[in-house]
Amino acid sequence: MVDKNRLTTSSGAPVGDNQNSITAGSRGPTLIQDVHLLEKLAHFDRERIPERVVHAKGAGAFGYFEVTNDEISKYTKADFLNEKGKRTPMFIRFSTVAGELGSADTVRDPRGFAVKFYTQEGNYDLVGNNTPIFFIRDAIKFPDFIHTQKRNPQTNLKDKNAVWDFWSQSPESLHQVTYLHGDRGIPATYRHMNGYGSHTYKWVNEEGEAFWVKYHFVSDQGVKGMDVNVADELAGTNPDYHTEDLFNAIDKGDYPSWTLYVQIIPYEDYKTYKWDIFDVTKTVSQKDYPRIEVGKMVLNRNPENYFNDVEQAALSPAHLVPGIEPSPDKMLQGRLFSYSDTQRYRLGVNHEQLPVNRPINEPKNYQRAGYMQMGTGHGSELNYEPNRFEETPKEDPSNQVNPFDVEGEAAQVSYNEHDHFTQAGDLYRLMSDDEKTRLVQNVVDHLGQCTIEDIKLRQIGHFYKADSEFGERLAEGLGLHVPDEVKA
Ligand code: HEM
Repeated sequence: MVDKNRLTTSSGAPVGDNQNSITAGSRGPTLIQDVHLLEKLAHFDRERIPERVVHAKGAGAFGYFEVTNDEISKYTKADFLNEKGKRTPMFIRFSTVAGELGSADTVRDPRGFAVKFYTQEGNYDLVGNNTPIFFIRDAIKFPDFIHTQKRNPQTNLKDKNAVWDFWSQSPESLHQVTYLHGDRGIPATYRHMNGYGSHTYKWVNEEGEAFWVKYHFVSDQGVKGMDVNVADELAGTNPDYHTEDLFNAIDKGDYPSWTLYVQIIPYEDYKTYKWDIFDVTKTVSQKDYPRIEVGKMVLNRNPENYFNDVEQAALSPAHLVPGIEPSPDKMLQGRLFSYSDTQRYRLGVNHEQLPVNRPINEPKNYQRAGYMQMGTGHGSELNYEPNRFEETPKEDPSNQVNPFDVEGEAAQVSYNEHDHFTQAGDLYRLMSDDEKTRLVQNVVDHLGQCTIEDIKLRQIGHFYKADSEFGERLAEGLGLHVPDEVKA
């Protein structure tokens, strides 16, 4: 009997020596006939794949989602939400945004909160952040925004002038910039933060009735920030601190959980609500649309293999299921393209066949071939439609898109709303005195690294408009004289 632990090449041939390459004599050059050596080096040479263009550093886990509210099926026909007690397996990936694959966990940055639900009707991915809002509201600005968050093309250094140049000229970022420099800007751990869908999505029920929906995952561990000095020290001494915390908690059976709530907005309200509900830089008040509990998410299994389970995970806002549709949010619309597009580049056109991405229901369609077919590639099944055969995949008209209104003429127009200050100011005014002091200090420390006076003044003007006290304290902290016309 062959020993099951016998070392082999990738094609299965036993390896005779894994320590000494074949050389011509004991000092001679290496022989090209050492195919095991060639294969071993060649495979090693190809171990890295492109890191995610954003959210490169992250940690993942598996678990389940359980519905706790029978009433949710009033609002959506989504199969995985249609019954109290129903459990759906899921995967989550937490991440930072701007750093590279090996960067530190404890930096000031939004955190990704990307969930994949393996439902009976296909994978549903909710690719959100730990912030309910975002910096910009049109996909066309995203590549420029990210360039300012990444490295300067010449120095290869992080560039604070670029960061504040962009933000100061994109005042829609003010709300998120304020949020980011508050206590939630560096979470204590991935377990101690909330997750948000951020965008408004559309839910459709069995009767074809549509609602707008906002998702909130509230941490059952509580929300906790990390002291800036501790975070700075950990970034040097244990850059993988959040990754380690998550793995260890699950490993010892201390399973983290989140309660999912939604805000339901009646369909017609988008025409009259005081804020544009499709503008991802704004929130929708919980007084107007209170949170309704949906269910609980529990993380109870660590990845078996980080590369396979986490690095190869492909989470995409385009992965929707019947009963859940996009809204006309201009950011979300761009994201519907960008994720699966980058994944075709990063992982290949057949990445949906990888174990972490594969749906639990068998995909049936007429797509064929491409690099790295991993299954049967649909074997001898028919590869075109329409066809005259009964037993071939057929469309299901009950899953046609829910019709929606469009208006106006096609043009490059901005959102109507340009009040970027009220909600940022409300956030400041909501904070305790201590929180305000830390927020002011964090902005002073960050904006203070910008060396260009007119950028600082332009940005300070935005903070003044949000709240004059906020602006005043920042100007004082930065030692800036702010002319009256900038404050107005
Ligand atoms: C990752 C694009 C806005 C959350 C990514 C990736 C791309 C991307 C290309 C890499 C995906 C991969 O390689 O698998 C964009 C574009 C945006 C946008 C074009 C705006 C138009 C947002 C917003 C949020 C968000 C508003 C949160 C509400 C995330 C998360 C990930 C990610 C959590 C990491 C997913 C994972 O863990 O694999 N984004 N993004 N992004 N993005 Fe965005």
